[in-house]
Amino acid sequence: MTDFVHVFRPPASGGGPILLLLHGTGGNEGELVPLADMLLPGAGILSPRGNILERGLPRFFRRLSEGVFDIEDLKLRTAELADFVAESARTHHFAERDVTAIGFSNGANIASALLLLRPETLGGAVLFRAMVPLTPDTLPAMAATPVLISNGNVDSLVSAEETERLAALLRSAGADVTVSWQNSGHELTDRDVVTAQEWLAQHRVR
Ligand code: MLT
Repeated sequence: MTDFVHVFRPPASGGGPILLLLHGTGGNEGELVPLADMLLPGAGILSPRGNILERGLPRFFRRLSEGVFDIEDLKLRTAELADFVAESARTHHFAERDVTAIGFSNGANIASALLLLRPETLGGAVLFRAMVPLTPDTLPAMAATPVLISNGNVDSLVSAEETERLAALLRSAGADVTVSWQNSGHELTDRDVVTAQEWLAQHRVR
């Protein structure tokens, strides 16, 4: 099995939620831990570092150019990440339905790929600045998996149309998708944090 450099922290209260933290290009396994602590203090954390290096910057899958993905590599890396989460669940005794992905940019894109290709890996997902990662040959059947897409309305990397295409794709696979627009570009804002906190509370991730 492909391993990932990662951080694991069990939930403070035994069997609580696990946040799967997926960083953006150039991030690492520590980067989103402070965000997770703001979103859900005491939640368990599984935070892998992407295994791809693009000019020294970690990512979760290869791209051919900005916004143009290497689909075969994306499929392979998605399978590796799904297997890593499944193995971590066995080792640390948590259930995959208790895993909520928190992904930013490249991390949001591989979280969407997990939903579309290996939906059993996640009980829910918060996608910040997400794009359409790929269109699968066969749509999975998700049992109303809750998904929040929090994107920026002046993001030069992700258009409103692409955001709506992602929402439509996930909905057509059965996901319960909420789209939230922030007054921002590709960077995260305080409103993203508040939006995700409220969404997690509404969806009883606690
Ligand atoms: C990024 O810089 O991470 C991109 O905008 C998203 C991606 O390449 O997956």
